[in-house]
Formats: sequence, structure tokens, C-alpha cells
Amino acid sequence: MRGFGFREHGGFDRLEFVEIPEPEPGPGEVRVAIRAAAFNRLDRFTLAGIPGVPIERPHVLGSDGAGVVDRCGDGVSGVAPGQPVLLNPGIWDGTCEACLRGEESLCRAYRILGEHTQGSVTRYVVLPARNVHPRPERLSFAEAAAAPLVFQTAWRAMKTVGAVRPGDRVAVIGAGGGVPTAVVQVAKLLGARVVVASRSREKAERARAIGADDAVVFDEADHPLDKVLWQWSQKNGLDVIFDSVGAPTVPRSVRALARGGRVVVIGATAGPVAEVDLRTLFWRQSSIRGSTMADRREFDQVLGHLASGKLRPVVDSVRPWEEAGEAFRRFDAPDLFGKVVVEVPSS
Ligand SMILES: NC(=O)c1ccc[n+]([C@@H]2O[C@H](COP(=O)([O-])OP(=O)(O)OC[C@H]3O[C@@H](n4cnc5c(N)ncnc54)[C@H](OP(=O)(O)O)[C@@H]3O)[C@@H](O)[C@H]2O)c1
Ligand SMILES: [Zn+2]
Repeated sequence: MRGFGFREHGGFDRLEFVEIPEPEPGPGEVRVAIRAAAFNRLDRFTLAGIPGVPIERPHVLGSDGAGVVDRCGDGVSGVAPGQPVLLNPGIWDGTCEACLRGEESLCRAYRILGEHTQGSVTRYVVLPARNVHPRPERLSFAEAAAAPLVFQTAWRAMKTVGAVRPGDRVAVIGAGGGVPTAVVQVAKLLGARVVVASRSREKAERARAIGADDAVVFDEADHPLDKVLWQWSQKNGLDVIFDSVGAPTVPRSVRALARGGRVVVIGATAGPVAEVDLRTLFWRQSSIRGSTMADRREFDQVLGHLASGKLRPVVDSVRPWEEAGEAFRRFDAPDLFGKVVVEVPSS
């Protein structure tokens, strides 16, 4: 079957439609006919090649997808052929100590659809039945495809790892990113006061429309992030800062924390190695915490909020399958805001 991905690692020029074998569901697995798939920044890293993550090539990209159950393997209950579903791209083994404790995102064999396995921008995906969930009725296939990876990441990062409490001052670094647009909504749902910090005035202002209380603009030269956030907090500091940018911002995020504050790091888009003054950490009793994806229980909570409409996927654009290459190139567009979705034809 055809899928969108690459045969050789590299840049955008390596993107192409490739052929991979059609997967068959084994016991406990479900085959989903994909109707919509969404990209994440992760796909760019996978295309470039992630050190220590060997993958099968040709490789199909995409961690997010929604579609219709096509076939069920032996022993599957809970979903049936013809049912509209969405995919949880986090794959765990269910047998290690972490999984048995219900902390699936800490599974020693944790994998992500489309990163460690063939991805979702294709006709069929096979996953364990526990990764296939009825699609909330209020969501289209495109919206359902846009939600799973970013909202589970945002939920765990803010609720579990960031321990956001009602009334907390929360800053989200980045306005238009897939995860940032989800984090703003999750932090608001948890009762926080949320400021979005972006390099772009226009995108920062757009963040208000998805629930941010305030928007600030920063730049390295005249308006450094720490000073801008410090002023916004009226010199109280931030309780929680969501930072997926990495090297250029994490040291400044640390400086903008209140006593006891937490910087939650889920990615390092602009560079992985940062220098932090440890004295700031111990004197203010602040911390830098890492977070990845979410446990099964957290994913279920996210699904509940998607079903009730309290969390709403932010879709930048939806393009037909033939234009997957153009869709992917949106990652370099300065006005990218939300998730990029590709529709997959049903026949
Ligand atoms: N650990 C996990 O489970 C997990 C899950 C999802 C993603 N991630 C990682 O988290 C990162 C974000 O993912 P995503 O899909 O949300 O990416 P995305 O949609 O491309 O968003 C990137 C965001 O980062 C901001 N940004 C990028 N470079 C910046 C810079 N130099 N200075 C300031 N802001 C910058 C952008 O801000 P503006 O919009 O304001 O321009 C944008 O909001 C990626 O590195 C991804 O691999 C990790
Ligand atoms: Zn496990």
C-alpha cells in the first residue's frame, strides 16, 4: 500500500510516496482504515533521523490518525468494523513494572506510532486494540486526527508533571505550535492564569482566541524572555512554564520562575543542550521536569474532555492526500498555527 514518507533520511527533498506491505491484525489488534492523519514536529525529526532510533525504510510518517475500524484480530472487544475511531500513538508492552503500575508512558519498551513504527499517513494502520478509541462524535476525522498526540502530551505536562493548581501563573512558550495550542487549553481547564510568549506578535494575539489570558512578545536582543515574563508576573515569577523550545529559552524560563516553580520540558525544538545556573534552582527551590506523552488513564481523561468540548483541536490546515508534501512544508511557514492534517481517501 502507498504511504507518505521517505526512503532516505534528510530534508524536505527526501519526502515522497512510498510502498510498504499492507499490515494484518494479529490477536488483540485492530486494523484501522485511515481517513485523516496529522503531522507533528516529531515527523521532521524522524525524517532527519534521530540518533539511537533505527527505523525500517521505506518509512511512512505520521503519529496521529483517525478513521474507521476495518478488521479486528482474535479476542478484540470494545470496537467493531465500521466504527469511527481515533488512534493513541503511544505504544506500551503492558508487562513491565511501569505498565503494571499503570504508568504506561514510563514503559521500558515505550514506542510512538510513526517514529518507531510505520506511521499513519497511509491507508491502514494496525495497533493493539487498547490504542483504538471511539471517535468523540463532535469531532470530524480531521479534528480527531489532530488531537491525540498533542493533547495527551499537554495533559500530562500540565496536570501530572507540572502539577498546575487553580490560580497558578502559567507561561506557554510558543503560540502556534501543536503542543502549545493544546497546553493553553489544558492549563486554562486546570484553572490557571495563562500567558503565551511568542516571537510573533500576531501569533501571540491569536493565542487569546484559544483561551490565553494574556500574550507577550519576546526577542533575544531587546526583550529577553525572562524579563518579559518577570514583568508580566509583576515580579512574582511564574509557577509553571511550558517549554518545548529548548536551548535558547530554558535557561531564561528557569530565571522567570517563582519560588517552588517548575519548568516543564517536553521537547527541544531549537536545540538540546542548555546551561542553567544551579544556584537559581536550589535557592528558589524550583525545578526542571521532563514529560513525555501520557499514561492510559491520562489519555482517557483527555478523550473525555474532547468529547465534552472542553478541549478543542486547533487545526492549521487540512489538505488532500496528494498534497501531503505541501502540507508537511507548513512546518517552515512563519504563520503556522495548530495542526497540519492530511485527508486520506476511503477507497
Ligand atoms: N515529549 C513528548 O511527548 C513530545 C510530544 C510532542 C512534541 N514533542 C516535542 O515538542 C516540540 C514541539 O512540538 P510541536 O509538534 O508542538 O511543534 P510545532 O508545532 O512545530 O511548534 C513549535 C513551537 O515552538 C516555538 N518555537 C520554535 N522554535 C522557537 C525558537 N527558536 N524560539 C521561540 N519559539 C520557538 C514555536 O513558537 P511560535 O508558534 O510562537 O512561533 C511553536 O509554537 C518538538 O520538539 C517535539 O518533538 C515532545
Ligand atoms: Zn511496559
